[in-house]
Amino acid sequence: MVDNIHENKVLIREFNEETDIEAVEKLEKNCEIGYKKGISIFTSMMGDPLCRIRLYPVHVMLVAQLLENGELVGAVRGCIKRVGTGFGGTDVTMGCILGLRVSPRHRRMGIGLGLVKSAEEWIERNGAQYAFLATEENNVASTNLFTLKCNYVKFSSLVIYVQPVNDHLAEEVDVPRDIKIEKLHIEQAISLYKSCLKQREIYPTDIEAILKEKLSMGTWVCFFSEEGWVGLQKKEEKEGEIMGTAPSSWAIFSIWNTSEAYKLQIRRSNLLKICHASVSHAMERILPCLKLPFMSMSTESHKKPFGFLFLYGIHGEGERIGELMKAVWRFASRMAENVKDCSVMMTELGGSDPLRAHVPQGSSMSCINDLWYLKRLNAPVSDEDELTAMRPVGNVFVDPRDF
Ligand SMILES: CC(C)(COP(=O)(O)OP(=O)(O)OC[C@H]1O[C@@H](n2cnc3c(N)ncnc32)[C@H](O)[C@@H]1OP(=O)(O)O)[C@@H](O)C(=O)NCCC(=O)NCCS
Repeated sequence: MVDNIHENKVLIREFNEETDIEAVEKLEKNCEIGYKKGISIFTSMMGDPLCRIRLYPVHVMLVAQLLENGELVGAVRGCIKRVGTGFGGTDVTMGCILGLRVSPRHRRMGIGLGLVKSAEEWIERNGAQYAFLATEENNVASTNLFTLKCNYVKFSSLVIYVQPVNDHLAEEVDVPRDIKIEKLHIEQAISLYKSCLKQREIYPTDIEAILKEKLSMGTWVCFFSEEGWVGLQKKEEKEGEIMGTAPSSWAIFSIWNTSEAYKLQIRRSNLLKICHASVSHAMERILPCLKLPFMSMSTESHKKPFGFLFLYGIHGEGERIGELMKAVWRFASRMAENVKDCSVMMTELGGSDPLRAHVPQGSSMSCINDLWYLKRLNAPVSDEDELTAMRPVGNVFVDPRDF
């Protein structure tokens, strides 16, 4: 496919693993997201620019190349996923747009727009009814591009919580003795999630694939010891059976270890601002946040490459859920301390999720407002259907593969 964009002749084509890796790395390195003088954070793609989207069976990376000299000046990634809409809604196929980059010297020339249009065409060809993306609230360029030029509508507001794993947490790191946190067999976790997911507004339908992915560290339930949970570790059960014996207050959560896939690194730099963009769109959103805990760090150990744990699938019920949530957080922090090269713990919750009230708000915790945008493909702009009109507020299952 060839796009004529303004006066520039730009070819938008699929990324070629044989020939483009170096050029994409260079592009990512040149891509400023903005950082503080004297410090740069960068991530290594570890030689695989597709490493995150590979987790989706149908994925693509497109690049924009100047026809005049072959220079690679832009890139975008896409993947297809099946998403359930709770409360009796139907499943839909969605295409996610992520990792959009245009080299600073070639911005405001329509290249970003060309890449998004090509990604949408790919998404449509692959059978999706919707295109979706997430961006940090303050990213004006990206928001304008998607809303003003491409007619995306704001779908939901979420909050990403970022906490460094270090001894600031030392005051209260232990899970209270009267609270039990038990790891589930994978089949049990799948079954319990399937029962809870029906109460979600938006969720990935392939929860099984997520839990079986090698980055997944497991799924746990949390409840008060005095109440117990009958039949919890039974491998075979009818769907929903375990929900029937749940204690009055309980929580379920899973943990994903990105440190295994790629890492961040901080270094001193004489350059004003360099941010070597990561393979993950979420990562670029957390970078400004990371400076809060990390800017003050002076020890050598903090300059080593580091990764993060992502706490996801958090669902809780009952009057004493606040106490359980605090225990979940402590448990995850403790776990992060014991994971090699892991320095940060993160989670993302819907803007109106009641569980937000129970996320510890210590001085080391940072928050980022994350906006989700959606567009129904092949539909008139004015034709707002059920999903685009839905605006989920809380009950969203955030897919760890998107981080
Ligand atoms: C966001 C980004 C990809 C845009 O690429 P681009 O090639 O400059 O975009 P385009 O030239 O196609 O711009 C299309 C429209 O987007 C909006 N836009 C783009 N950059 C903008 C900016 N800096 N400020 C305000 N609006 C902007 C405008 O509406 C623009 O149309 P106009 O030029 O007619 O006013 C680029 O700025 C970038 O790589 N940023 C860093 C990485 C990033 O934030 N990626 C997005 C992650 S979701």
